[in-house]
Amino acid sequence: MTRPSYLEIDLSAIQSNLSLVSSLAPNSKTVACVKADAYGHGAVAVAEVLQGKADLLGLASLEEAQQLKAAGIEAPMLLLEGCFDKSEWLEASQNNHSAVVHCQGQLEALLSLDLPNPISVWLKMDSGMHRLGFDPSQYADAHRQLQQSGKCKSIQLMSHFACSEELDNPFNDQQIQVFTDTLRGIEGQRSIANSAAILTRPDTHLDWVRPGYMLYGNSPMPGEVAESRKLHTAMSFYSEIISIRHIAAGEGVGYNHAWRAEHDSTIAVVAAGYGDGYPRNAKNGSPVLVDGQPAGTAGHIAMDMMLVNVTRMPNAQPGSKVELWGKELPVSRVAKHSGMSGYELLTRLTSRLPRRYIT
Ligand SMILES: Cc1ncc(COP(=O)(O)O)c(C=O)c1O
Repeated sequence: MTRPSYLEIDLSAIQSNLSLVSSLAPNSKTVACVKADAYGHGAVAVAEVLQGKADLLGLASLEEAQQLKAAGIEAPMLLLEGCFDKSEWLEASQNNHSAVVHCQGQLEALLSLDLPNPISVWLKMDSGMHRLGFDPSQYADAHRQLQQSGKCKSIQLMSHFACSEELDNPFNDQQIQVFTDTLRGIEGQRSIANSAAILTRPDTHLDWVRPGYMLYGNSPMPGEVAESRKLHTAMSFYSEIISIRHIAAGEGVGYNHAWRAEHDSTIAVVAAGYGDGYPRNAKNGSPVLVDGQPAGTAGHIAMDMMLVNVTRMPNAQPGSKVELWGKELPVSRVAKHSGMSGYELLTRLTSRLPRRYIT
């Protein structure tokens, strides 16, 4: 028997979440974000089911695009941070990748080159997030330079929200205003909506939407469960109990005895830990499901194991199935117990965990 910890990835859930995107934004094309190994779900397997259905696959880097190409993925790809040097621009153009241009240095590198093929550029504006993008005051000029260069097959106009999961934050409207005002008089297809905006702000769908987190069946809106948005959770992180210990009142368990039994207790050892990507800083009582029943962690998460309080679960035994997050336990609930985001938990899973795909 092998170590009983794995990720079950439901590819049909991802397809159905993409269909949901299309039904919410029926007049928009889709950049399906499969960067960061498809948010931990395995970029090749996810790209295989999305190709032909999403209009573009969104990646963070040329390396990520190369990995997909090497695995036989032919779908058009968008490099969301653009290219990092001249050789990357040449390679992106050769492979017909679309790429973001977000700063003067990238613009100059692109304009200085003889490209093998004209490239499809996504010109990024900093509408207020202050991360990547041209200042609105410089945007029209950057657009004019790209247009006049003759090196662009098309120029898409994009920006990114800073606070879109905060429904009532007035900054969302401010960003939309800046984006709209700056684009007045500039021709091109427009894109600003990530998952939160796709779910909550139809006025931002425009020509292209760029879903990531929701594609995997998670709502970015705080406190929301996937079902309330008709999303289907794609990833379930499973393990098993591998040992049971009876702990007398007053005894401590695990490293530094970070949990101490107030009463005689039963503690299960589960074969998953921070070496798999489960957060080490998960607090005592972080939720898990043992044979579908709610239980909580006890003490520090170790590299390969964690301890779970099963005192009130007389049937818990070695071999009992444990869900660490997934279809029955939203990753966002686990994330909250470690002061992290669900996005972070998904993308920090390690390669030690086998991914088992179901359709
Ligand atoms: C430029 C850009 N667009 C879209 C997304 C997708 O965002 P989400 O996963 O919240 O849908 C991201 C994610 O970080 C991004 O950086």
